[in-house]
Formats: sequence, structure tokens, C-alpha cells
Amino acid sequence: MNTVYSKITGLGYYVPETVVKNDDLRQYMDTSDEWIQERTGIKERRWFTHGKDTNASMATTAARMALSRADLDAAAVDLIVYATLSPDYYFPGSAFLMQRELGLEGIPVIDIRQQCSGFVYALSIADQFIKTGMAKTALVIGAEIQSTLMDKTTEGRGVAVIFGDGAGAAVVQATTDPEHRILSTHLHADGRYAEELYLKDPGSSRPNHFITPQTATDGGASVVMNGNTVFKHAVVRFMEVINESLTANGFGSDDLSLLVPHQANIRISNYVQQQMGLPDEKVFNNIQHYGNTTAASIPIALTEAFDKGLVQPGDLICLAAFGSGFTWASALIRW
Ligand code: COA
Repeated sequence: MNTVYSKITGLGYYVPETVVKNDDLRQYMDTSDEWIQERTGIKERRWFTHGKDTNASMATTAARMALSRADLDAAAVDLIVYATLSPDYYFPGSAFLMQRELGLEGIPVIDIRQQCSGFVYALSIADQFIKTGMAKTALVIGAEIQSTLMDKTTEGRGVAVIFGDGAGAAVVQATTDPEHRILSTHLHADGRYAEELYLKDPGSSRPNHFITPQTATDGGASVVMNGNTVFKHAVVRFMEVINESLTANGFGSDDLSLLVPHQANIRISNYVQQQMGLPDEKVFNNIQHYGNTTAASIPIALTEAFDKGLVQPGDLICLAAFGSGFTWASALIRW
């Protein structure tokens, strides 16, 4: 019997129409375009439109684009793996809402919460399900509405300027082609650093009720980040997990066609690029336009890279992420 592998056969994304430029943020907080660009590389990000966009609606649009590019009907999908830290409801997860939108009642859906590494974790889960025969066609989603999770005052500016909204999707299908496929995925986590980048409330282990009037004012309901610690761990873990994927498959950094890193911060990407000795054309960045869209960043970037012709059959593509948890992960793909 032929060994079953998995491959990405369609990509899609959606970003909300409202463009928020760095200077637009000055109406909420004391900041500047110069500070933001110098520290993060970000020029603008997208914020969702209340009443139009939801986490699941953005994911659905991205999924429809990915399905159409894979030349598939939604009915072919037999698994959804959905990564987000900003679901529409506390429960059930947004995967259920997207499944309903796509009319896929009955198929299994998996919501995961691996933050900026969410898409690579979700891709790995789909890969395992497909390789074991549990699924044949998976939709893998990364989607976020983060603009409502930030403290958009001067107090929260160190976080609020970084994150944006958007969604990305990949169709992952079974294949017996040993050449063009997901070669391997590598997942890591270290909960000792959970509070270095986190959103405390609404949390279930609060006295009496998980949300109270104080929740709105005591700071727990906005994202908290120790930027320095995150930065220091990110640069080390990105390098490790990229090299892990290359070594596992007998490659070196020279063999890479394109690195699509999670769009955390341009300085992190530049550091990794420099340490690995990669030329500019081998590292894809679009953080300038979307900020850090967490689980959505890799599928949005991969789709844009694909649309620009930077992902060709036979290319060796590495996806790599680091984020809250801490989590870090990579996927090596022979396109
Ligand atoms: N606009 C203007 N000034 C700001 C600001 C903003 N948006 N945010 C912070 N500042 C100020 C601070 O108040 C501080 O002022 P002070 O010196 O008067 O106290 C100064 O800028 C430096 O702040 P600091 O937090 O030390 O900046 P930094 O150089 O460490 O950069 C980050 C902050 C967040 C950009 C940086 O730590 C970083 O990139 N971390 C990684 C974040 C990341 O990638 N997160 C996602 C991981 S998935």
C-alpha cells in the first residue's frame, strides 16, 4: 500500500477593509510613526468592522478562497482545524461557526489555542490526521480579531501598536506523492513563560464569577506583554526550530527556497535572516501592512508569497513561528 502524506493544495486570506496607519493611532495614544516603524517595521494594520466582520466570517471568506483555488467544493472537507486566541464566543469555538457557515454539519472540528504558533500547530494536526487516514481533506485556519483585546491608551501602547486583525486558510489534502508534500512539522511549548504574553480575563478561576465590573478596569482584560523577554526568547527559538526542520530532513539553510516566518516583528525576522545568512528574497515579510495578526499571520503571508510567484513547485518552504505560551513551531514543505 502506498504511504499517505499531506500537501497544501489551496491558500486564501481575508483582511478587514479598515486600514489603521501608525499616525491614526495618535488619536488614541501618545505614539509616533517613527517609533513604531523603527521598533517593529509596522506601517499600518487592519481593524475589523463591527457588524460586518466576525472571527468566523473572516475565516469563512479565507476558507472559500482556499477551496476555490484548490478547485474543491466545501463538501469535500472532512476536518477543520482552527487556530485563534480571539474566538467569537468563550465557547464553543469559532470552528463551529465556520463549519455552520460552510454547511459542513457532522464533520469533526478542532479549535486550538496556540497563539502565534497556532497555524503551524493546526497544520501539524491536519498532517497527522491525514497521514493516519483519519481525514482526507482538511481546512486549516488562523483567524484573529485582536483590536478589541488591546488597551488603546498610552498605557497600553507597547502592545496595541503591534497587533492587527485578519484571517488565513489552507486546504490540506492527502497525497501519495512522496516528493511534493509536508515533509515534517516540529512543535514546542514552555508554560513557564505563560504570563510573559497573556490575556488574563475573562478567566474561570476568579472568585464568584469569571467576569465582574472590576474585570473591565483592573487591567486583566487587556493583553499584557513583557516585550523584552518575548524578543529574547523569540530570536533563539525561531532559529532553533527552523534548524530543527532542516536537520530532520537532511537539509541546510542554503537549500531553503523561502522562509515564511510568523510576522511578529521585523527586527526578529531580520535577526533570524542575518544569523542564517539568507538573502532578502528568501525571507517573506508583510508585517508592514498588517502588523502581527497572530495565528493568521503565516497563512496570510504564505498566500501573498504564493500570489507573488514566490512559491513554485519543487521549492523548499519553511514556516516558523514563536508566540505566547511560550510556543514555537515549524513546518518544512516541498511544494
Ligand atoms: N510609541 C511610543 N513610545 C512607546 C511605545 C509606542 N507605541 N511603546 C512603548 N514606548 C516607549 C516606552 O514607554 C519607553 O519609554 P521610556 O524609555 O520613557 O520608559 C520606550 O518607548 C522604550 O520602551 P521599551 O518597551 O523598552 O521598548 P523596546 O525597545 O523594548 O520595544 C517592543 C518594545 C514591544 C517593540 C519590543 O520589546 C519587541 O519588539 N518585543 C517583541 C514583541 C513581539 O514580537 N511580540 C509578539 C510575539 S509573537
